[in-house]
Amino acid sequence: MKGIVLAGGLGTRMYPLTKVTNKHLLPVYNKPMIYYPIRTLVNAGIDEILIVTGGNNAGDFLRLLGNGKEFGLKHLNYTYQEGEGGIAAALSLAEFFADGEKICVVLGDNIIEKNIRAAVKAFEEQPRGARILLKEVPDPQRFGVPVFENGRIIRIDEKPSVPASNYAVIGIYMYDHRVFDFIRNLKPSDRGELEITDVNNFYIQEGTLEWSVLDGWWTDAGTFDSLLYACNMVKKTGANRLD
Ligand code: G1P
Repeated sequence: MKGIVLAGGLGTRMYPLTKVTNKHLLPVYNKPMIYYPIRTLVNAGIDEILIVTGGNNAGDFLRLLGNGKEFGLKHLNYTYQEGEGGIAAALSLAEFFADGEKICVVLGDNIIEKNIRAAVKAFEEQPRGARILLKEVPDPQRFGVPVFENGRIIRIDEKPSVPASNYAVIGIYMYDHRVFDFIRNLKPSDRGELEITDVNNFYIQEGTLEWSVLDGWWTDAGTFDSLLYACNMVKKTGANRLD
């Protein structure tokens, strides 16, 4: 399986912190934010990794990460996203890199306490489709929220004002190669973006979306409050542990 870290966007929710740098280069306690999603992939045994970045500071990623030696990698791949178009638009740039293989996509601002090994193994054994990761949260209305019926997910609602469950769809997604065909058929949402939730809903309609519940804490770090929370949690327990 190949890994993709999405680290583009303009980070407007975090202005002025993101006025002169990319959100994913901001510090989360003692490491740049992008270290954590890369570690998530490496800890799951994924060592072919593509970084999708964008904006004015793309060169800083290369200076910071080089060929990924710090993560035990021999090589890192990079691609550049012009402007903003949503998570699914950023992911579409990975089609050439994926080259027909299954992929694991991590949003560059998602940080986990432990690891995703069990979910990656389950997806390797899954004949086709997609697998998402869920985590129970106190504020599901901030995220994609699964709607359950008889133990199956029948739909995902993006940032619903009345959430149908207490779970968030976290920013770690696994797809087969058909994800790029699904993205080509997407229409922009009300916020003008190609939504990853719409991609997941395609797989749900097809009956091939599976899910796992993440072990340990999870947070995004894309708002002032969640960044502060992430810093404190990393300091308190560490992140990307293998136990
Ligand atoms: C995105 C997704 C959302 C998901 C979240 C996880 O939200 O659209 O479904 O729950 O990432 O971090 P965004 O951060 O783009 O608002």
